[in-house]
Amino acid sequence: MKITFLGHACFLLESDDARVIIDPFLSGNPLAPVKPEKLEVDYVLVSHAHADHLGDAVSLARRNRATIISTFEVANRCGQEGAATHAMHVGGKRPFPFGYVRLTPAFHGAVVEGGHACGFVVHIDGHTIYHAGDTGLFSDMKLYGGVVEQAEVALLPIGDNFTMGPEDALLAVEWLAPRIVVPMHYNTWPLIEADPREFKRKVEERTASRVVILAPGEELKLG
Ligand code: NI
Ligand code: MN
Repeated sequence: MKITFLGHACFLLESDDARVIIDPFLSGNPLAPVKPEKLEVDYVLVSHAHADHLGDAVSLARRNRATIISTFEVANRCGQEGAATHAMHVGGKRPFPFGYVRLTPAFHGAVVEGGHACGFVVHIDGHTIYHAGDTGLFSDMKLYGGVVEQAEVALLPIGDNFTMGPEDALLAVEWLAPRIVVPMHYNTWPLIEADPREFKRKVEERTASRVVILAPGEELKLG
């Protein structure tokens, strides 16, 4: 399978039989490498309803007859806008044709009243991918470092201000002990500037994890 970074917090996970996109913020994203009209997807995962995550989710889902997977409140809102949805909530896990999805905590707003932001563990094609969503550091991330899941690949925000910055993300890597880390949610705007090379240097000095810096449009193949 392969993971393609589509800028900001958006990743496309593709196996032989499924295409899963997470947080499809493409329209209005200055760094988006692809137009949403060009994408074909089966599932759309939405971590919360801030515009830089919900993005093109509803239009993508409607055009592709794809299913949006999110927390109950965000899924309901997408459903009201005409998308097919599957509502879950934090801590819940559910099989899908490509594998399974678990919703993880994320300390952040959801936008939708009564809602909660989340992250995702996506198990697809034998690989376990943790997308932290927008979140500050929290020590229960250890759960995804071998307690309830072992993330093979961790997609972690490093842009600071709204989420973890590089120092906290380094602690997250120590707790998650993934094989590969891909930084996200940085350099889209000046407010979240961060140096991914400096992050890579520190992570690889302090941990056994490898940092793969993906430019928007670049992909990571998993064997
Ligand atoms: Ni947000
Ligand atoms: Mn965000």
